[in-house]
Amino acid sequence: MNPEVVERILEKHTGDRDGLISILEDIQSRYGYLPQEALRLVADKTGRPLVDVYGVATFYRAFSLKPRGKHLVSVCQGTACHVRSSPAVAEALEKQLGIPAGETTPDREFTLEKVACLGACALGPIVVIDGHYFSQVKPAQIKGILAQAREGLDKVEITTDLRIFPLEVSCPKCNHSLMDAEHLVDCYPSIRVTASFQDHHCWLNLSALYGSYNLDSEYDIPVEAAVNFFCPHCHAELIGASDCTDCGAAMVPMIVRGGGMLQICSRRGCKNHMLDLVGSKY
Ligand code: FES
Repeated sequence: MNPEVVERILEKHTGDRDGLISILEDIQSRYGYLPQEALRLVADKTGRPLVDVYGVATFYRAFSLKPRGKHLVSVCQGTACHVRSSPAVAEALEKQLGIPAGETTPDREFTLEKVACLGACALGPIVVIDGHYFSQVKPAQIKGILAQAREGLDKVEITTDLRIFPLEVSCPKCNHSLMDAEHLVDCYPSIRVTASFQDHHCWLNLSALYGSYNLDSEYDIPVEAAVNFFCPHCHAELIGASDCTDCGAAMVPMIVRGGGMLQICSRRGCKNHMLDLVGSKY
């Protein structure tokens, strides 16, 4: 670990009072994990207790204290995926990569992990690679999916790959569609809402691709900011009964066309989301 690199990252976030997650994200993206010395340096330079820095580093699934491969492969082993043969998918991944779950390939290309429910049970078995969801995965598809990951999933044509479906959603209060066909995010019509955070009120377009966290917004929303979402048609606040199990912020519910409910965490940077499809065509 090069202390100068970490110091440059810290400098970039000077004055960003909620910037710990951003700092750790930058370090993780530079090294592929969070080296112990880097965490000590962050604690030292930001004046935060080391235990707090470790608390954040171990709380979020996105962070790793162990070196990871270039591509992170997560295979769901939750109950719904399990009954749809996810153990066979995990076995195919282990065979193709030549490593057991929990390990990294010797060339540092792939890290494989088995995880609990990823929130898209109706579409299992689910495999997530570098944040891209693959649904109803069969062992025979594993070779092709890994080949795509090696190429870079962002470069693969969205129409020909197996990435998970775009959703169409509507407001749970007035049932008006929230889809914005004019404003594309990830090459698909996006989900349009209005949002307020700190002293700002702005429009916000979210990717409708399940598992994508891309968005466009009128203002930059700082990581960790709690955001209130509103329907742009009836102006009701989109707020559900439950809080995020990862960070405690409110979950934002939306009705999925075809039956079901999508819930996303309202905190910028938290990637918790749940999809409960009822009578789905998938
Ligand atoms: S059990 Fe796999 S997504 Fe829920």
